[in-house]
Amino acid sequence: MAKAAADDLLLCASSFCFLVLFLLGDLSANVNADDEVAPKPAAIFIFGDSTMDVGTNNWLPASRSRADFSPNGIDFPYSVPTGRFSNGLNSADHIARLFGYQRSPQPFLYSLKHQSTFKTAILQGVNFASAGSGIFKQTGKKKFRNVLPLGDQVKQFATVQGNITGLIGPGATDLMFSRSLFVISIGSNDLLDLVELFPNISTSATVAYLDNLKLTYHNHLKDLYNLGARKFGIISVPPIGCCPAARAASNDSSVCVNGLNKLAQAFFQQTQDLLHTLSSELKGMKYSLGNAYEMTMSILEDPLAFGLKDTQSACCGAGPLNGKSPCLFLINPNLCPNRHEFLFWDLFHPTELASELAALTLYGGGTRYVTPINFSQLVAFDD
Ligand SMILES: *[C@@H]1O[C@H](CO)[C@@H](O)[C@H](O)[C@H]1NC(C)=O
Ligand SMILES: *[C@@H]1O[C@H](CO)[C@@H](O)[C@H](O)[C@H]1NC(C)=O
Ligand SMILES: *[C@@H]1O[C@H](CO)[C@@H](O)[C@H](O)[C@H]1NC(C)=O
Ligand SMILES: *[C@@H]1O[C@H](CO)[C@@H](O)[C@H](O)[C@H]1NC(C)=O
Repeated sequence: MAKAAADDLLLCASSFCFLVLFLLGDLSANVNADDEVAPKPAAIFIFGDSTMDVGTNNWLPASRSRADFSPNGIDFPYSVPTGRFSNGLNSADHIARLFGYQRSPQPFLYSLKHQSTFKTAILQGVNFASAGSGIFKQTGKKKFRNVLPLGDQVKQFATVQGNITGLIGPGATDLMFSRSLFVISIGSNDLLDLVELFPNISTSATVAYLDNLKLTYHNHLKDLYNLGARKFGIISVPPIGCCPAARAASNDSSVCVNGLNKLAQAFFQQTQDLLHTLSSELKGMKYSLGNAYEMTMSILEDPLAFGLKDTQSACCGAGPLNGKSPCLFLINPNLCPNRHEFLFWDLFHPTELASELAALTLYGGGTRYVTPINFSQLVAFDD
């Protein structure tokens, strides 16, 4: 069977594909492929952490933040473990699919190693996301040794900008970038590091950390703008206190860890502020901010409305709620058979189905979940 056909089967042969679209009424308004053909961005450039990584870290020596082993990828075509922290596709793929691509563009580090296809590949877009990374340079380094922070991802994009300019010239590059979608999903690891590395931090020091985080994020986004990015699709931090790892580490796994969730909410506020400021400073900048906190909470409040039966434990892992160990082949983890009924694939990450729900909401959701406009409106926006 052709690879593309196998992909389509993967997503839509299952009866819950229809179920999802049917039930989504509440979360995302009118995603109907027949209604209108989505305008396709010129290219998609993706930045961020494990929510978006499609194999970057496979190429990072000594990184401990990797997923290129089974059972990760069990529902990917041919059950290939690609490096995605998912049973199948992740949010980067689902967003790209909604805009007419087969899946996420390849990781930059992959394309670098495949010189014969490098030029054609980068003209479609590039994925720079690195699992375990953050906005701060040092985030994730203690736990995972080697990750690519957002600042380094932006530097790699500068290289790509140079390469594309070499191919099509500066004017065409500017035009191409102004019509491209820049997706950024990052921040969770900065907040997790704060809690794990500074357990007794004072309130004022926490505020200072968050302020510094906001400023650093501001600078990275401005750098992207200066390289030509105009349409920013930003995804905020989900309720990290509700993931199996956080629940399993706490006294009462039936409730989410409030401290972590408060940080996620504060981060959303700050991101909203910074995007508001930035878009008033930078001519032609447009953005859409996805509120992953609200999206996830609405699923936790009514899982059955989304066809989900288990929103607390990980499908793959070990220990309480399968939330003590990652989905590592080495530890012979538990693996649920009914993956489409789970919100979480492993101790931190959503299942393929949950990431599809998120992507549909970003694409076509209302202002409770994505503001001031949704991703489809962002891409359709004419400059
Ligand atoms: C891309 O740009 C970098 C930095 O200028 C350069 O070293 C590299 O050779 C370029 N790659 C291609 C394929 O043009
Ligand atoms: C944090 O405070 C607790 C008691 O409140 C103490 O037992 C612990 O050693 C402190 N941790 C650090 C890293 O200072
Ligand atoms: C966990 O429970 C014990 C006993 O009830 C309590 O002393 C401790 O403070 C709790 N720890 C946390 C992190 O809530
Ligand atoms: C979001 O996107 C959809 C589909 O493109 C659009 O029809 C809808 O009006 C948007 N929703 C809101 C609340 O803006």
